[in-house]
This record gives sequence, C-alpha cells and structure tokens, in this order.
Amino acid sequence: MTDDPMIEARDVYHAYTHAGVTEPVLHGLELVVRRGEFVVIMGPSGCGKTTLLNILGLMACPTRAGTLRLAGEDALGLSDAARTRLRRATLGFVFQRFNLLPTISARQNVALPLRIRGEAADGRVAELLEAVGLQDCADKEPGRLSVGQQQRVAIARALVTRPALLLADEPTGNLDSANAEAVLTLLTEFHRTWRQTILLITHNEHLTVAADRVLRMCDGRFVE
Ligand SMILES: Nc1ncnc2c1ncn2[C@@H]1O[C@H](COP(=O)(O)OP(=O)(O)O)[C@@H](O)[C@H]1O
Ligand SMILES: [Mg+2]
Repeated sequence: MTDDPMIEARDVYHAYTHAGVTEPVLHGLELVVRRGEFVVIMGPSGCGKTTLLNILGLMACPTRAGTLRLAGEDALGLSDAARTRLRRATLGFVFQRFNLLPTISARQNVALPLRIRGEAADGRVAELLEAVGLQDCADKEPGRLSVGQQQRVAIARALVTRPALLLADEPTGNLDSANAEAVLTLLTEFHRTWRQTILLITHNEHLTVAADRVLRMCDGRFVE
C-alpha cells in the first residue's frame, strides 16, 4: 500500500455554473504525486489552481473525474463521513484566504486541528508559533493581526498535526521576503523530517528551489 502515490488524479474536469452560464475551469487534468514528494504549481491568476487544490483537498467535488485517489483511498467513492475522516487524518490545508476562526486567539486557531482530533494541544503549538515568528502575538485574535501574521497563523495551523500531505495555496503571498524565507525553511524541514508530501501553489519563483518538481498551469491545463 505504501507504494501507492499520495495523490493520483486523472481526467479531472471542473466547471462552475453561475446565472445559468457554465464555465469550464479544469480540462481533464492528470496529476500523480509520490509520497514524500515536494511539488510546486505555478500559473497565472484565474487558471484554476485554487479550484484544483480544493478538489484534491476534498473541499470541493470535481464536476467529473476518472480517478481521484488520496493516500491510497478512492476519494470519490467515500461517504461524507469517511471523506472527513480521511481529510482529518491525512491533510493539512493552507487556504488562500486563511479561513481562521475570528473569535479565538492565534494560539487557539493553531491548536484547533489537534482539539478536533482529540489530541492534547502540546509543545507543537508553541514550537510552530515560534517557527513562524508569532510567539509574541499568540494571544491576539486574527482581527488584531496583520494580513501577513494571519497567513503565518494559517501555516502553523496546517502543520500542527504533522500531516502526511500539506496542500498550501499561495502560503507566502502576503509575506515579506524574510518571512517567506522562514516559511520555506519550515516547509523544507517538515518535508525532510516527516517525509511530508507537499503540494504548493505559488507565484514566488524562489519557493521552487526546494521543490522536487515544478508544474506550470495555464487555462486549466498543465503546460510544458
Ligand atoms: N465559486 C466560483 N464560482 C464561479 N466561478 C469561480 C468560482 N471560483 C473560481 N471561479 C472561476 O474559476 C476560474 C479559476 O479560479 P481559481 O481556481 O480561483 O484560479 P486561481 O487560483 O488559479 O487564481 C476563474 O475564472 C474564476 O473566476
Ligand atoms: Mg487561487
């Protein structure tokens, strides 16, 4: 089983329908990511990167797909409950718009995935807050943090369970170069230490230095 790829997506189509108009955004994508691989996806705004990541992260259902296997499981064949279980057990997700809970502190946001799993909010929370440079504002709610600080909370939250698969949507899009470098160091460390599989969307060419593979996307397709 462990020779299964972490992600096997074949023939993935997606279209949005809005006000009676259907607009296709993914045109039969193929993506296979090995366990422990660090893959970066780049591409212009609007080409379908977030849509793809949401589908791979089981946050959205493709309009149609030949295959969508995640960590060896047939993600399309699962019940809602089984899909949620797979997501909690396997995935860490950094949303492009962070999706932090506004009423609880940064520290509590980072601890949340552990609480949902019924695990203790242990030293991992403080370690990650420090790794992203937020130890001094950990008790503030997201609304009292800068956008860049909120983004770093989202990264710490995605990593706290040491997920086998990290999906990150432009995780340094709001960071200055020093903070982007710290995040890259952190991801590289997780990749090495935990043999974490990483699929990362970015516009930052610098983040490709640590990647095993860089894919370019255009108009809902991978291009050379
Ligand atoms: N919820 C939605 N409803 C309708 N259209 C959408 C929705 N989300 C994205 N789109 C459209 O789908 C295309 C791809 O969007 P997205 O996946 O967010 O691209 P990217 O992340 O590469 O910028 C864009 O044309 C966008 O306008
Ligand atoms: Mg996007």
